[in-house]
Amino acid sequence: MAKLSVRDLALQGRRVLVRVDFNVPLEEKDGRQTITDDTRIRAAVPTIQFLRERGARVILMAHLGRPKGKPVEKYSLRPVGLHLHDLLSHPVVFSHECTGTIPEEIIASLKPGDVALLENLRFHSEEEANDPAFAQALAKLGDVYVNDAFGAAHRAHASTAGITKFVPQAAMGFLLEKELKYLHEELAAPARPFLVILGGSKVSDKIGVIKALMEKADVFLIGGAMAFTFFKALGIPVGRSRVEADKLDLAREILDLAKKKGVKFLLPVDSLQTQEIKPGAATRNTGVVSPGSGIEDDWEGVDIGKETTALYETEIAGAKTVLWNGPVGIFEIAEFAKGTRALAEALAKSGARTIIGGGDSVTAVTQFRLADRMTFISTGGGASLELLEGKELPGVAALTEKA
Ligand code: 3PG
Repeated sequence: MAKLSVRDLALQGRRVLVRVDFNVPLEEKDGRQTITDDTRIRAAVPTIQFLRERGARVILMAHLGRPKGKPVEKYSLRPVGLHLHDLLSHPVVFSHECTGTIPEEIIASLKPGDVALLENLRFHSEEEANDPAFAQALAKLGDVYVNDAFGAAHRAHASTAGITKFVPQAAMGFLLEKELKYLHEELAAPARPFLVILGGSKVSDKIGVIKALMEKADVFLIGGAMAFTFFKALGIPVGRSRVEADKLDLAREILDLAKKKGVKFLLPVDSLQTQEIKPGAATRNTGVVSPGSGIEDDWEGVDIGKETTALYETEIAGAKTVLWNGPVGIFEIAEFAKGTRALAEALAKSGARTIIGGGDSVTAVTQFRLADRMTFISTGGGASLELLEGKELPGVAALTEKA
């Protein structure tokens, strides 16, 4: 069943409570918290502007970091409010309390089109505990509720799930809608060949995604440290590379499953190896790997090798839909970033629908300045993975069904 959208709500003059994901990276500079990547804040702007243009009084709720139920100054949302003020070219009134008379008075003073932001919800342990009284106290601040926090939709918290029981209508915002369109609806019937690039450090993190996508994808390209767990399972030497020694059976099971399903499941055919993980470190390409010949003793795999890069580029060129989750090397260090960069460039050049499924691959694509060449970039981390695993997200499930 489809969920109610922000477009379906009566908005003029109403108090609209909007859950957004403003969980952005911060860095302390000159004693002040500075936002180092505002993608998630920008991604919420279309919904906020839509509400403002329609005369709603907008009350934003969000979390930042994991302050464990207590106020922690470095996780205050105040700098986010100031940044949003600049993005909207409109004041954002900050409430240092989330519930009670302080936000109530602030909200009562808002005019249609005005915006308020509540302090970090996770300063209250009741938020993560999905406490009904806290959810009700939040609900009291608004007339209707909108969830646009895709990145937090996998959490059943007071502001993402509990609150929906205490509001007459709970609708999706534009960002949530867009994320579901690309990561869920579109991938249910993808243009083929449908290719999946999976990287990152652990097979165990991606097992749910691999199994779910095995039902839909035509080709998998594997990279990152998780490739070494597959290497080890196949008897290919891994040197000092990171391996999940207790997941070798799982790796074999995945390879068998791919064979059974006729899915092309490609592992690197060579690797870039080093003896030290640090900028400027010397590197060496392995030969083509095989049982008995792979990464040398005392060396560690840090990127896909040249042959693999060429092979993966060819696969990408032939694909119609590409989903990418997880870098294929330690791209944060320039010497180990070539493989990840080459694949990002191949995606940018390809005519395929290119969907970057959240997490570090998004950081990589942004770092290579190729973000605007992709069809869609998810703002989710854990939420994207859970959606790709085929799980129902509590923050979506709790929303009002469209009549
Ligand atoms: C995220 O950054 O993935 C979301 O904001 C959720 O944060 P959490 O993992 O701390 O719940």
